[in-house]
Amino acid sequence: MLKITDLVKSYGSGAPVLKNLDLTIEGESVVSIIGSSGAGKSTLLRCINRLVEPTSGSIVLNGTELTNLRGRQLRAARRKIGMVFQGFNLVDRLTVMENVQSGRLGYISTWAAIMRRYPKEDIRRAYELMERVGIAQYANTRADQLSGGERQRVGVVRALMQDPEILLADEPTASLDPKTSEQIMGLLRDLAGELKLPVLINIHNVTEAKKYTDRIVGMRFGRIIFDDLPGALDEEAMERIYSGSPHADRGGDLREAS
Ligand SMILES: Nc1ncnc2c1ncn2[C@@H]1O[C@H](COP(=O)(O)OP(=O)(O)O)[C@@H](O)[C@H]1O
Ligand SMILES: [Mg+2]
Repeated sequence: MLKITDLVKSYGSGAPVLKNLDLTIEGESVVSIIGSSGAGKSTLLRCINRLVEPTSGSIVLNGTELTNLRGRQLRAARRKIGMVFQGFNLVDRLTVMENVQSGRLGYISTWAAIMRRYPKEDIRRAYELMERVGIAQYANTRADQLSGGERQRVGVVRALMQDPEILLADEPTASLDPKTSEQIMGLLRDLAGELKLPVLINIHNVTEAKKYTDRIVGMRFGRIIFDDLPGALDEEAMERIYSGSPHADRGGDLREAS
């Protein structure tokens, strides 16, 4: 379970971009976070894995308070949080297997990683996951030879190699064409069920959020102003979430990097 309480984040001395935010995610639910650019979606995910430091508040993942961890404990906690990125964040000149194994970096020694001496069990698990998402045939292909959808599958497998307790995805389909985008969303939803993993997805495309996720959280100006089942996201709720913003994407082709 992820339980966020009274989370505040300000960058520097600026006004808070997350304002006393509360959010609890239980079980294997797939939750999407929608909202205009600048609403604070990425900041929220980055606070969870501590890529940015929360200003105040509490984030507890399965009993561990994440906000005050340092050093070794922080690294251990980060292993439990899988992250999938809009731009995939692969190392282009490395093979798919090497990229995937980098998900194990927090687990094996630096020397073993440099020598690419991956434990047998890690290789077996990598093939299992690569088979599952349909990229096993590319194990020894350089990452930059793959299509966007294939690259994101590598990103997903790398995150799963961490054996995470939660998966965070920041606009994971925003760089993909609509068809591939739907495939990746379907994959994330299915994997959540198969691995009993909660998944939190920042997403611009409201149609996909409704179709592929169990619950929708709407953010506006650093606050959660909607939190309900997809079916409850009606025109009125959309108005509230996106009012005053030219960035609403109601399922069209606007794919904005943010
Ligand atoms: N590293 C940063 N330094 C200063 N301000 C930032 C930084 N990252 C994001 N912001 C600001 O925080 C607000 C929320 O941004 P972000 O979390 O990226 O929103 P979203 O992902 O919903 O588009 C925006 O006003 C943005 O300009
Ligand atoms: Mg963002």
